[in-house]
Amino acid sequence: NEAPVSTIATIGQHEGQRVTLRGWLYNLRSSGKLLFPTFRDGSGTIQGIVPKAAVPEIVFETLKGLTLESSVVVTGKVRADSRAPSGYELDVEDVTVTQRVDDANPFPIQLKEAGVEFLMEHRHLWVRTPRQSAILRVRATIMRAAAEYFDTNGYTRTDPPILTPNACEGTSELFEMDYFDDEKAYLTQSGQLYIEATALALGKVYSFGPTFRAEKSKTRRHLTEFWMIEPEVAYMDLEGLMEMAEGFLRHIVTKVLETHRGADLKLIGKDEAKLEAIIAEGAFPKLTYDEAHAMLKDAYAAGKIEKPHEYGDDFGSPDETYISSQYDKPVMVHRYPAAVKAFYMQPDPKDPAKALCVDVLAPEGYGEIIGGSQRVDSYDLLKKRIEAHGLPLAAFQWYLDLRKYGSVPHSGFGMGIERCVAWLCGLEHVRETIPFARTLNRIYP
Ligand code: 4AD
Ligand code: MG
Repeated sequence: NEAPVSTIATIGQHEGQRVTLRGWLYNLRSSGKLLFPTFRDGSGTIQGIVPKAAVPEIVFETLKGLTLESSVVVTGKVRADSRAPSGYELDVEDVTVTQRVDDANPFPIQLKEAGVEFLMEHRHLWVRTPRQSAILRVRATIMRAAAEYFDTNGYTRTDPPILTPNACEGTSELFEMDYFDDEKAYLTQSGQLYIEATALALGKVYSFGPTFRAEKSKTRRHLTEFWMIEPEVAYMDLEGLMEMAEGFLRHIVTKVLETHRGADLKLIGKDEAKLEAIIAEGAFPKLTYDEAHAMLKDAYAAGKIEKPHEYGDDFGSPDETYISSQYDKPVMVHRYPAAVKAFYMQPDPKDPAKALCVDVLAPEGYGEIIGGSQRVDSYDLLKKRIEAHGLPLAAFQWYLDLRKYGSVPHSGFGMGIERCVAWLCGLEHVRETIPFARTLNRIYP
């Protein structure tokens, strides 16, 4: 008699009943006349029990020598077991092998530790392991929650082009390509300039897509291809932007906890109390660049950081790590020296050497996850900035137009999804936060 098909994640609905699971053999232990195969199906893992005496001989023999990652369809009875990680075990009754992995070529990712380069070289198979799958599920939740925040707060999603004639974030990290005849095109570094145009059409907009930077640095925070979500709002100032960024991050963390508490987060090894602390009552701390500099100066004097921070310089990774480690919520550092920031940032009217910008630094040393600012709204100043940065005026004419036809104060930010995933999952490196990472030295698989 037919058993209903279930996923492992929802198997509790079938307690005491027979179900069919479709998945893969993840692990196999045996003790003589008893087999303990662990199955996975993408939604979770479950251990099966196969006593030789209780099942047809063919079932026992099929599972006994079965190679890991062979695809299988298994039928059995669901039994609650409080000792099992998923809360349930499967008394196996029948099994069909869909494809058996060849004994001579076993699945290359063994359950024991393998080196990172080996794992990255086999990323197409590594993604199957439960922890990596869990990270990808959290990534999907973060992406959904991020878009949901804007979708439910009156923003219109407008998709900027990926092939662009101009640079947004400086010219040193551009991927260049030929665009027919004599033209050059660049892979976009940020959708910002384009969504400034759509913000002046629609008021509140966002973009969400892949962005590219020819990062020559090998760090644990940099990819050459990453996903960025960027809101842009007409008539919003820096203070409004910071408030919005806080609401946005709170929404994401709330959704991640709601969806993955006790399950994926546990499997990944993330301390959930750290996530609870982010959304606990109390506003995110805010520091000006000057205040952050003073904090670093004291830290250096007290021997807590190795290198002094030079006033006027951007913060390095160790600086960001120190600043953010002082709080258990993300910290917003605002009003950096204009000289270390992008050409499009509005000067602070109270101190024009400073930009009306904000970087959000994640706790636990994760560094910058969000960068944003109020934008220059004067035509003359923006033109001067483009020239001073040695950018080609012709390619920016359309962008300057925005300051000619009903210019308004406006603000926006960008958040890199991978940085956010690394932070919320507590990962060492962004290479595990995206299905197939692109870095300086890797474009395979
Ligand atoms: O601070 P960035 O360079 O800001 C911009 O691109 C603005 N145009 C965004 C805007 O205002 N609309 O980048 C924004 C975020 C960073 O805070 C970081 O999270 C991420 O993008 N990011 C990267 N993530 C992974 N790898 C890289 N190479 C990244 N570069 C930036
Ligand atoms: Mg930045």
